[in-house]
Amino acid sequence: MTGLDRPRVLSGMRPTGRLHLGNYMGALANWVKLQDGYECYFFIADYHALTTDYANTENLVRNTEEVALDWLGAGLDPERCVLFLQSAVPQHADLHLRFSMITPVSWLERVPTYKEQQENLTEKDLSTYGFLGYPLLQAADILLYQPKFVPVGQDQVVHVELTREIARRFNQFYKLGEREVLPEPQVLLTPSPKLPGTDGRKMSKSYGNTIELTDAEATVRQKLKTMVTDPARVRRTDAGDPDLCPVGDLHKVFSAPERMQQVYAGCRSASIGCIECKGWAADALVQILAPIQERRASFTASQAMEVLRAGSGRARQRAEATMSEVDQAMRMPKLAEQSVLQTVAAGAAL
Ligand code: TRP
Ligand code: SF4
Repeated sequence: MTGLDRPRVLSGMRPTGRLHLGNYMGALANWVKLQDGYECYFFIADYHALTTDYANTENLVRNTEEVALDWLGAGLDPERCVLFLQSAVPQHADLHLRFSMITPVSWLERVPTYKEQQENLTEKDLSTYGFLGYPLLQAADILLYQPKFVPVGQDQVVHVELTREIARRFNQFYKLGEREVLPEPQVLLTPSPKLPGTDGRKMSKSYGNTIELTDAEATVRQKLKTMVTDPARVRRTDAGDPDLCPVGDLHKVFSAPERMQQVYAGCRSASIGCIECKGWAADALVQILAPIQERRASFTASQAMEVLRAGSGRARQRAEATMSEVDQAMRMPKLAEQSVLQTVAAGAAL
């Protein structure tokens, strides 16, 4: 099947640095699966990083490299999908500007993450124009590629909804014949299993409770050792319940059914200890991580950036095609490729 027969999907990830198991289960593993059935565009959203971290850009390059390496390690394959860097495709900024012209400020102010993040991230000044406009940048990211689907987790659904509203508004103002220039994409909801971090809360970089894709076996085992368990199981002789234990949740995601049976039976009868049970969970994690780490180690950071460079060229072609339609629909003045004056000057120089 060629790219042209497959429905197109687009998704992005911020350059947060090394990815953790939560990023893997909540997005990346799903992207890897999509590669064969869809024409995939995946990008690193470095402009988005600026919306909240404009004051600290010193890690942007390294974080971008780490994410790109994790992607390759997880099995995203540049032969089968387009992997690119947002800022290397200037059309994202261009389409964002067009959207900023047509979007009422009130639409942006009522995006729930706007107030939430301003309240939560009090150490950052998020009263900026760019932070308010962040959902428009995301709408531009998406609509630039005219995708059928946007694979995201539940937390991003409101942003895709707003993207659809922006597309509708654009298409109302600007038409190219009967065809819609910016078709409304649909959410392709990524099923994300409950994945607790070592402290029992949702695994998240900001909680410092993550297991990273690059964690060595010894690190994984150490992190598991200190992981919280069913609070009712105080002593080795107390029975516990894997359904009330974060380690139990890890087993549910990563362990085979037979192992799961041993965990349920052993924990509820207190015939296994938590140390043994955590050892089994660590076994399952190590088994998932080993092939990812092996593949990751076969790339250098500069090779990973080269993958993004090549992918950005392909993305740019796609983006240019959309922007040319956008320009026509918006009836923007179009200058000829080469002006008469240039032609004369070129002649004179000869
Ligand atoms: N906002 C997304 C996040 O924080 C990242 C993102 C930016 C994105 N642009 C996108 C996701 C376009 C999907 C499509 O995770
Ligand atoms: Fe949790 Fe396993 Fe201990 Fe039960 S035995 S409380 S599932 S760690």
